[in-house]
Amino acid sequence: MQLENILKKAYETHNLNIDEVVTLLTTDDQNVHLLYQYADKVREEYVGDEVFLRGLIEFSSYCKNDCYYCGLRKSNRNAQRYRMSKAEIIERAESAYNVGYRTIVLQSGDDFYYKAEDLADIIKGIKEKCDVAITLSIGEREEWEYKILKEAGADRYLMRFETSNKILYQKLHPNMSFENRISCLKILKKLGYELGTGFLVGLPEQTIEDLANDILLVKQLDADMIGIGPFISNPDTPLKDFPNGSTELTLRCIAVLRLLMPDTNIPATTALGTLDPQGRQKALRCGANIIMPNVNSIEYKEKYQLYPGKICINEDASHCRGCVENIIKSQGRRVGQGYGHSRHKK
Ligand code: 5AD
Ligand code: FES
Repeated sequence: MQLENILKKAYETHNLNIDEVVTLLTTDDQNVHLLYQYADKVREEYVGDEVFLRGLIEFSSYCKNDCYYCGLRKSNRNAQRYRMSKAEIIERAESAYNVGYRTIVLQSGDDFYYKAEDLADIIKGIKEKCDVAITLSIGEREEWEYKILKEAGADRYLMRFETSNKILYQKLHPNMSFENRISCLKILKKLGYELGTGFLVGLPEQTIEDLANDILLVKQLDADMIGIGPFISNPDTPLKDFPNGSTELTLRCIAVLRLLMPDTNIPATTALGTLDPQGRQKALRCGANIIMPNVNSIEYKEKYQLYPGKICINEDASHCRGCVENIIKSQGRRVGQGYGHSRHKK
């Protein structure tokens, strides 16, 4: 059977051509469990049963960009904007550390109010007080800024390329360039960051071939961490009339990436949990090994709305910690100890 041959090849070589990836992504529903089984086995063999938690602090909801799908886009007059002060961010990180987090993710819109020097102060401030790894997710900056931030102690960087279809990229990201985004990702890798990237599933006009190319681009960029989420239509954006992406197709992308990049870190994303109450659990069963709970106060959580219906906005950080620990245990897995650096071989 063609499907099993492709799965065996993926299992043995971790390499597939675009046609094979398309075949996996379009497997009929009766057989898709085979894809998930292989992905789960590879996950177990390469990264084990531990699920690592990352405490996410969304520290600013301002953004200078205007991405068509995103609630933080600058043209969204309904968005509620806030910026946390340096002291507030450091304090949040400390409280996340105190409830057990060993990675802090600092995320914001592309907000140049924070200069590289300010962010460096925040990173140093956190590292002085807490024994944590720090991930930045603050968008496109200059190489010298990435360098300052690395030297200040940042360990990892997350920035999805969102779609590898350049024409679609240009349509959805006015005044931005696909080339610059890819160039930033390569610079980050060169500077020694653990690199996280990924894409959205179910964007308008996106095809299965586009998704197969997205998967191959993640591999080509040699990412250490791979974030894949379904597009969720936001009523305050130009894409308000387009349907949401599919949970199933997102899970297939996760499974294929686990087969092709066996030792990477792959989160069960919040967007998946928003679209399907069992979304994160399902992702853990087909390749995912990370969860990124939001550790901000409820006041800020409700103001950081990339898409509607985001889960957990009424839960405080310790509640979410307990909840995700239960999710992990319910899947027969355990909470990872330590920083949970990527095991991805260079
Ligand atoms: N639906 C799903 N994910 C979204 N993101 C932004 N807007 C949406 C949306 N409407 C994702 C982007 C970005 C990440 C932080 O959130 O992929 O990289
Ligand atoms: Fe926040 Fe479940 S992860 S309540």
